Amino acid sequence: MIREIVQIGDPVLRKKCEPVKSFDRELAVLLDDMKETLKAAEGAGLAAPQVGVPLRVAVVDVEEGYFEFINPVFVWQKGEQYGSEGCLSVRGKTGNVLRPSKVKVVFSDRNGDRYSLVAHDFFARAICHELDHLDGVLYTDKADKVRTVED
Ligand code: CO
Repeated sequence: MIREIVQIGDPVLRKKCEPVKSFDRELAVLLDDMKETLKAAEGAGLAAPQVGVPLRVAVVDVEEGYFEFINPVFVWQKGEQYGSEGCLSVRGKTGNVLRPSKVKVVFSDRNGDRYSLVAHDFFARAICHELDHLDGVLYTDKADKVRTVED
């Protein structure tokens, strides 16, 4: 089911999200809904608070594939990249953000199994952007300038 994407100004986007404790049916439904919602919105990533759920869950859809991150934590971050970002919760805007060029994250899948992954370039940027959402941080907090884009 496609869920409504909350917009900047909604306090849920500023919450420090809680870790997932139960890898249950409710989590599976949330993840399936987030996937459907992200595909419909044609975005690169979506975090649970963006659909009003303050849990440490994010999904990313990039060239490397589709990934579900539950209770993700950075192991390390290396290098720098400077480039443009947008956010499904900040419609019609874009801004340049400095991010690491390479990151390693550990995370659980929907069954509660723990994995790690190394991501580069845009994939790393997408992970950083989504993990920020889990701490109530938006890219607009970090961008040096946010501008309006035309459709
Ligand atoms: Co976002």
